[in-house]
Amino acid sequence: MSKLAIDGGNKVIADGMNFEVWPPVCPEVAKKLCDLYMSHKWSFYCAEELKFAENFAKYHDAKFGTFMVNGTVTLETALRALGVGPGDEVIVPSWTWMATGMAPLYVGATPVFVDGEKDTFCMDPAAFEAAITPRTKAVIPVHLFGSIADLDKITAIAAKHGIKVIEDCAHAHGGKWNGKGVGSFGDVGSFSFQQSKIMTAGEGGLCTCNDENLYDLIGRYSHIGYGLGSKQGKPSTPPPTDLDSRNYRGTEFQAVILQEQLDRLEADSKHRQDNANYLRAELGKIPGISTQKPGRCATMQNYYVFGITVDPAMLKPGKTKADVIAAVNAEGATEIFAGWGEVTYRQRLWQVSPERYRVESFETVADIIYNRIMLADIRWINGDRSNCEKMVEVFNKVMGEYGI
Ligand SMILES: Cc1ncc(COP(=O)(O)O)c(C=O)c1O
Repeated sequence: MSKLAIDGGNKVIADGMNFEVWPPVCPEVAKKLCDLYMSHKWSFYCAEELKFAENFAKYHDAKFGTFMVNGTVTLETALRALGVGPGDEVIVPSWTWMATGMAPLYVGATPVFVDGEKDTFCMDPAAFEAAITPRTKAVIPVHLFGSIADLDKITAIAAKHGIKVIEDCAHAHGGKWNGKGVGSFGDVGSFSFQQSKIMTAGEGGLCTCNDENLYDLIGRYSHIGYGLGSKQGKPSTPPPTDLDSRNYRGTEFQAVILQEQLDRLEADSKHRQDNANYLRAELGKIPGISTQKPGRCATMQNYYVFGITVDPAMLKPGKTKADVIAAVNAEGATEIFAGWGEVTYRQRLWQVSPERYRVESFETVADIIYNRIMLADIRWINGDRSNCEKMVEVFNKVMGEYGI
């Protein structure tokens, strides 16, 4: 076994990774953005926004799409439109980006955190059911990193208890569950197009839904009460009394950028899925290493990042996940990191008084987060297969030394 780079040996990846710059750019889009700029029509139910929202929803097998400024306000708007408010509880996963937990607070409801599954890391349906109380009004499963929450089980439990479902699809653009798009199973699907996401316009968000009244409400909540398709300053049917609406509109510029990414989403998703499957097979041969499991019925699994786990019981005494990451990085595999590092309500930015939320269960995801998980940046699976081959070589070398 050759000496590890962290101990002064030669690096497996001596000359850097063959990564594409993220997010990718395209000259045709640059030209369209110039034309759009010269058109003077930049916002408020203009053609590109409406076209993109419709196409994106259709791609995910949902009837309606409403474009907004980000994937935080889409969650908030979905909750408002579903009538969630003060006194209600909303069940969310213990492991997610804090926006999922914050959104219930924005509408005066209480987020209730529940544990995840040990192989997909997504919300555990049994933990969801165990946390239901008479006050539970909604559940927000998150399709986390490179998996899809168990949509069959979660929607069945929700239906049994009369609970609304909002799928947080911020990581899952283009994902399919039994051939049907994510975001079309719950009452509302919520997507983010923030800079690091699979599809991005720097910022952006979108709600999908299948109910026309809900679509109208989501539109009005996010467009200061205007009816669907209305133009600024023009007559419009008035919103319902006391509709607490906001301005969460996105722009035409974002829609143009995103439409081009949507056009190649299927091909890009297949490519990433192939690379992820290769990694899953090859890394899985290394004792102590495994990978995040895709959704149980995922027929197209997309990836925000690629999750790799190390079993602490398979490491030499004294070695931890942090040592494995440090050694892997030292070999030149730099874009592999520990991830968000904390359960949601312990993240640095989560400064919420304990009486405003409830933690129901978290043990499984805490073990994954603190002891096991390593996340590989999307560029590992977005690019050439040779990157994945190098990653496998690096893990083989490091575990050859640190594994028992
Ligand atoms: C799971 C999840 N939900 C929601 C969001 C919020 O999206 P945005 O950053 O567009 O507000 C994010 C963003 O990282 C996320 O990861």
